[in-house]
Amino acid sequence: MITYVDASNKARRTPGVIPVHGSEGFEGMRKAGNLTAQALDILTEYVEPGVPTAKLDQIAYEFARDNGAVPATIFYKGYRHSLCTSINHVVCHGIPDERPLRDGDIVNIDLTLVVDGWHGDSSRMYAVGEISRKAERLIEVTYDCLEAGIAAARPGNTTGDIGAAIQGLAEAERMSVVRDFVGHGLGKLFHDEPNILHFGTPGTGVPLKPGMIFTIEPMINLGRPHVKILSDGWTAVTRDRTLSAQCEHSIGITETGCEIFTGSPGGLFNPLASRTKA
Ligand code: MF3
Ligand code: CO
Ligand code: CO
Repeated sequence: MITYVDASNKARRTPGVIPVHGSEGFEGMRKAGNLTAQALDILTEYVEPGVPTAKLDQIAYEFARDNGAVPATIFYKGYRHSLCTSINHVVCHGIPDERPLRDGDIVNIDLTLVVDGWHGDSSRMYAVGEISRKAERLIEVTYDCLEAGIAAARPGNTTGDIGAAIQGLAEAERMSVVRDFVGHGLGKLFHDEPNILHFGTPGTGVPLKPGMIFTIEPMINLGRPHVKILSDGWTAVTRDRTLSAQCEHSIGITETGCEIFTGSPGGLFNPLASRTKA
C-alpha cells in the first residue's frame, strides 16, 4: 500500500510512506543542489592524469567547509569521505585514495552536500585525458538514460515509467542496467522513500505527485548488469569487469513535470557534450 504524507510531519524513513514536500522543501533543495553542482563544476579542472582521487575528496571537503555545508557521506554508515570516485569498472561507491588517475580512465564523482539540513545529491562522469570510443559511447548513453528518466518524471506517470524509459534506451544500445542500486527519495533525509528503480514496467510502482523529491541515478554497464562488492565493504564493481558509468540528478515533481535541483551552473554536467558536439 502507498501513503503520501506532508514531508514536514515525517522525520524518519517509513516503508511505503512517500513524503510530499512544499515550497520550503523546494527552496532548500535548490540551495543544496546548486552548491553540490558548483562543487562538481570546480572538480572538472582537477580531473587529470596523475591526480589522486584523495585530492578530489580534499577539494570537496574544503569547498563544503568554506560554504557552510557538510558532505553527507562523512560518517554515513561508517563511510569516511566527502565523495565517491568510481573509476572504469567500478559501478559506484569507489573510495578516494592516493592512487593517481591515469590517461584514458573514466571516473564518476558522486557528491552530496547538506545545506540547512537539505541534501543535494548528484554525480557526473569525467574523462581523464583521452578516452576510448567505447567509453565515450557508454557515457553518452548513460546521460541519455538519465535524460529519458527525467522526461518521464511528471504527474500522471509512475516510478515504473521512469525505470522503463531508462532500461529501454540502455538495452536498445546493447548495454545493461545495474539492478543492485537505485535512486531514492531525499530531502532532510539522505535516503528516503520511494526507491527509483532504473528498470521496470510502465505504469507500475508509485504514482508521481507534485512535491515528491528524489534522485534518478542510472548505472549502465557495457557488459552484463551483475555487480560484486569488494572486501572494503563499499566498492561495487562489474562482475565481468566491463566499464560502468553513472550520472545523477536530484529532482522535484512539479504540477507539469519536474525541476532539476543539481543542474550545472557552468553547463558542465555532461563533460563530453563539448567534445562530441564540437
Ligand atoms: N551519493 C550516493 C547516492 O547517490 C550514496 C553514497 S553513500 C556512500 O545515493 F557512503 F557510499 F558515500
Ligand atoms: Co549520489
Ligand atoms: Co543518490
